[in-house]
Amino acid sequence: MCGIVAYVGSQDAAPILLEGLQRLEYRGYDSAGLAVVNAKSLRTRKVKGRVADLAAVVPARFKGGSGIGHTRWATHGVPSDVNAHPHLDQEQRIAVVHNGIIENADELRRRLEADGIVFESETDSEVLSHLIGSTVKETDTLEEAVRRALKSVVGTYGIAVVDSHRPGEIVVARNGSPIVLGIGEKEMFAASDVAALIRYTRQVVHLEDGELAVLKADGFNTFTSDARETAKEPFTVDWEAGHYDNGGYEHYLLKEISEQPDTVARTLRGRLDDRFHIAHLGGLNMDPRESRSFRRVKIIGCGSAYYSGQIGAQLIEELARIPADAEPASEFRYRSPVVEADTLYIAISQSGETYDTLAAVQELKRKGGRVLGIVNTVGSAIARECDGGVYLHAGPEVSVASTKAFTSTAVAFALIALHLGRVRDLSPADGRRICDGLRKLPEQIKEILTQEEHIRTLAMKYADAPGMMFVGRVRGYPVAREGAQKLKEISYVHAEAYPASELKHGPLALISPELPTVAIVPDDELLDKNLTTLGEIRAREGRILMVGHRTAEAADDCIVVPKNETELDPILLTIPLQIFAYHAAVALGRDVDRPRNLAKSVTVE
Ligand code: G6P
Repeated sequence: MCGIVAYVGSQDAAPILLEGLQRLEYRGYDSAGLAVVNAKSLRTRKVKGRVADLAAVVPARFKGGSGIGHTRWATHGVPSDVNAHPHLDQEQRIAVVHNGIIENADELRRRLEADGIVFESETDSEVLSHLIGSTVKETDTLEEAVRRALKSVVGTYGIAVVDSHRPGEIVVARNGSPIVLGIGEKEMFAASDVAALIRYTRQVVHLEDGELAVLKADGFNTFTSDARETAKEPFTVDWEAGHYDNGGYEHYLLKEISEQPDTVARTLRGRLDDRFHIAHLGGLNMDPRESRSFRRVKIIGCGSAYYSGQIGAQLIEELARIPADAEPASEFRYRSPVVEADTLYIAISQSGETYDTLAAVQELKRKGGRVLGIVNTVGSAIARECDGGVYLHAGPEVSVASTKAFTSTAVAFALIALHLGRVRDLSPADGRRICDGLRKLPEQIKEILTQEEHIRTLAMKYADAPGMMFVGRVRGYPVAREGAQKLKEISYVHAEAYPASELKHGPLALISPELPTVAIVPDDELLDKNLTTLGEIRAREGRILMVGHRTAEAADDCIVVPKNETELDPILLTIPLQIFAYHAAVALGRDVDRPRNLAKSVTVE
């Protein structure tokens, strides 16, 4: 959500913090700030606005070899200069940046105010700087002060703390919000996301919930919340700094849409077995006997991850004939779910840090559920929490709206479904059919991408509609939901998705020339039924944009995509809808990569 960066070493911290914050801007971006420590003095700057606005107010001579920085996505208190982080204690000795939500902030605030402390901001985070500030005088180390202060805190946090009395030292702590350490040459980094570190180092260490770390230029130590030292193995991130560049595209979103032939190929690489027509997924950590033992599959995720889970459920039911369904992780975790030993749970997350999904996985684990993860970010919290899983290898996704992670997740589900199917009743011939279909995907995605100009023209034609209806049946329904999601999140055009079969049970009342419909109409056994629905819309003077494998008279406009195996078609049908949403958003002058009110990775409840 918000972004955290910290640096300690022989260089000046400020330029490194600003560069890191820029890399994190996609996570949260209504204000930004930093604090550096130089020869026992603390200097801070914070502003409402973007990182560029912060950079503009940081003086050229802003010296200091250690410091912390933050980009904020407001939860408590409006975006403003005072509510921006870092927050200081009364004596202006301690500076803290915080990601997460302090649930007992009001109570702590009242207690601190009764002791004479005057608060500057409306944030929950400011209690942390005052708590640490009032403890640090009684302790020998900053780490001890942070640990003691955190004992009275209820809620989630990733924090970084500096103390002007201890230049050259930073303390970070994690509980529910990610903190990654980066190991450099006589310098140390910390951040909420590797994106901020990757320019400087690829050697990283992830903190676990409840862990603290003390960073100095020459290394780091990690501790549990009861002060026991922990041993951490660094690992090498295989993403490179270049992966975070926009590669000459006007927007990350278009870059990420265009990367899909490669990203889908990477998700497939080395995973298809031509001898037995099965998928090899070593990370599942299951032998065939175990793979056969599940009687049900439950899939959880948030936002686009949830919609890709709906495609996954369909694939698993069709190919493995195991009852499967998807549910938003945010709902699942709160309804005291019944957890069964013979159900396989699958959690989906691009970032691997979405708090609702992580909390749902933790609830499942607590009840003894078997959970697999489909995750893009290696070593992320959800990946670590799961019993096994499939990494997408799609490379970092920077734009807030998910595209390449969505298609790669659907492909990962096809692999899981193939695997579960082939240890059950899916015939070798069907296994081969699916393997061949999967191999065709990258070339077919390239073919769809060549239609960008046609889709752009259509997007411009429909972009001024006050709203759009998206409909699809069975396999087409999750595609319609994701299409509506893409349109609403980046173009702010109201978009509603409905099963085509449900249209006449209510939403048909909305159909008029002002509300165009995007209809997902694959060439499958439901084609005739779908064409009948188009006729019903047409009879109410509704305009129709059809996405499918042929043109149809009932539709005003058509986007025709290459045909694959029926089960895999939803993956391809999604792509024109991404391009459509992108160009609609551009036509409407929206901030495509950073849509209002949204964040890439929602690490709070
Ligand atoms: C946020 C983003 C969505 C994303 C969802 C799940 O809401 O705006 O684009 O689909 O989080 O993210 P995850 O990283 O768990 O896939």
